[in-house]
Amino acid sequence: MAFRASAIRANRAIVYTQTGDPSQVLSALTYKPLPAPPAKTVNLRFLLAPINPADVNVIQGVYPAKPSLTELAENHSVFIGGNEGLAEITQVGSDVSGLTTGDWVVMTKAQAGTWASSRNVGSQDVLKLPRANGLTEVHGATMTVNPPTAYNMLNDFVKLEKDEWVVQNGANSAVGQAVIQIAASRGLRTLNLVRNRPDLADLTNKLKALGGTEVLTYDDLTDRTLTSTIIKDWTAGKGIRLGLNCVSGKDTTSMARLLGEDAYMVSYGAMSKEPLSLPTSLFIFKNLTTAGFWQSRWYKRHTREDKENLMKTLVDLVAQGKLKEPEYEIHSISSRDSDEVAGEKIRDTMARISRGQYGKKVLLKFDDAQ
Ligand SMILES: NC(=O)c1ccc[n+]([C@@H]2O[C@H](COP(=O)([O-])OP(=O)(O)OC[C@H]3O[C@@H](n4cnc5c(N)ncnc54)[C@H](OP(=O)(O)O)[C@@H]3O)[C@@H](O)[C@H]2O)c1
Repeated sequence: MAFRASAIRANRAIVYTQTGDPSQVLSALTYKPLPAPPAKTVNLRFLLAPINPADVNVIQGVYPAKPSLTELAENHSVFIGGNEGLAEITQVGSDVSGLTTGDWVVMTKAQAGTWASSRNVGSQDVLKLPRANGLTEVHGATMTVNPPTAYNMLNDFVKLEKDEWVVQNGANSAVGQAVIQIAASRGLRTLNLVRNRPDLADLTNKLKALGGTEVLTYDDLTDRTLTSTIIKDWTAGKGIRLGLNCVSGKDTTSMARLLGEDAYMVSYGAMSKEPLSLPTSLFIFKNLTTAGFWQSRWYKRHTREDKENLMKTLVDLVAQGKLKEPEYEIHSISSRDSDEVAGEKIRDTMARISRGQYGKKVLLKFDDAQ
């Protein structure tokens, strides 16, 4: 039975018992305060946790990574939403070293269930986030998925020299904005493709202010002079050697035609929900290579030290002012709301996200952690 929400500060999580449409299946569940942590574990209080596109797919049951059932309240096993988030350590088990109360940590275990006010987790399932000037809770909460994806895609496929170009679609996505900033910090140039919109000039200015070199829309890809002249001029005849695909569908086929010889096209998302189709001629005559990237696979295949180094690199970029917070909106889950009301509010937020009404990263904040 669920612990009843009341005016006292209690724990709460956003949960589901069956996969399906997040605007239907999610609910809020209040649960008891955590007991003292067992020896090799820590108790956490989540400070902020994002709602990423992949979280929606997990709840829909169409994502390869699956959460496990957790018994949050007696005889009440649920899936807790959320893969990413920033937490503060509130209590440390007797057999834990290297972590203390007050440390900021991020999750190393996939599908950890971050949409909760407090959790008890194994100390190996978290990574301490180094504190740095300018590092905010929003940075921390969004540090393990999008910036690492951008960083690794810029490093792992093509050895790019200063002033070389990268082309990407979905350039205004959180990953796309990280790509722009990390590329700019390395002296790389970016050709950024976005959907046309009434406020295109504002978006163009925003992406250029982050360090983007050029911003075009998918409609511009019909202009034949782009491949025949413009890109040749921009790249001094060298061509673009890395393309990053967040969208797929026919506009991505057109984007692939912008790539030069021996280029890589790396796919990491499929926001159009369309397949990716590429002309055979690009493989034969331009020696195109295509690949996929999944940050979860990277985490599985890399050591704890690699993960710590990656976090340190990204935090250093933040400290140097080279990696800004994504634009965000906070969805607060108030202790004054009953589980029913909090559940209605989160379902409404998920419905608005699915209608594309945000354009900003939505972050969950519980004001009732204990
Ligand atoms: N492989 C990995 O390891 C990895 C890691 C992180 C993220 N991802 C994936 O990367 C994608 C972006 O994630 P995010 O957190 O950066 O998302 P986000 O900030 O919510 O951005 C979503 C992007 O998708 C675009 N978009 C939405 N529907 C579209 C459509 N029908 N056609 C074309 N563009 C569309 C949006 O453009 P508008 O502004 O025009 O709507 C926006 O640029 C997601 O698919 C996510 O799952 C993958």
